[in-house]
Amino acid sequence: QNPAGATCSGAKRRQIVDLANRHGFLLVEDAPYRLLRYRGSEEPTLLELAPDRTVHMSSFTKLIAPGVRTGFMIGEKALIKALAKVAEETYISPGYVAQGITLEWCRRGFLLPQIERLKKLYAPRLEACLASLDAYMPDALPTRPEGGFFISLTLPNGVLTTVVRAQASSRHLNLADGLGFFPEGGGERFLRLPFCALSPTEIDDGVQRLAESVQSAR
Ligand SMILES: Cc1ncc(COP(=O)(O)O)c(C=O)c1O
Repeated sequence: QNPAGATCSGAKRRQIVDLANRHGFLLVEDAPYRLLRYRGSEEPTLLELAPDRTVHMSSFTKLIAPGVRTGFMIGEKALIKALAKVAEETYISPGYVAQGITLEWCRRGFLLPQIERLKKLYAPRLEACLASLDAYMPDALPTRPEGGFFISLTLPNGVLTTVVRAQASSRHLNLADGLGFFPEGGGERFLRLPFCALSPTEIDDGVQRLAESVQSAR
């Protein structure tokens, strides 16, 4: 999940499907990180558990390159057709160049090796980030993701993200504002740490700067 970096358990997925069956609602499954799993074992998709009531969405921007800005939906034919009509009436047409690049990429068999390559690249970055957090910030609470791009971190008691962000910026560490993930309030001690774009050495340096920023924010 984004931003939690958590994976929904199989039991919870089945409960969601039960509720949808009982109350007759549709499920929208937004799963662009699903294929980037580095450890643990795969859970079934909601689409597999409830094919008649799920629309499953994903994105090639996480698997090929951000610039392709191409995604896809899988679901019941009539519903997808209706959604395609809304899309057409909203933005006329998708970007055909990006779609063509994506199609050709898949047709030439590049996609599966690319996913394997990304998993090999990102898995040690996740491990490095967790190891540095454990070493430099033992009283903060990170999630321990099994895949995806993000770790979410709960800062120690009494330490506010807004203050840490200001401290970090003076150490040339740019932390994103995560308050937008809490539309009903909360999140005062929340930080989302993306770990994929940096090498393990850079991550270690960044987490050291983060730990110093937290120290000064206490
Ligand atoms: C959960 C989730 N869904 C959808 C998207 C959007 O993907 P795209 O890059 O194709 O716009 C993101 C991107 O960050 C995401 O985290």
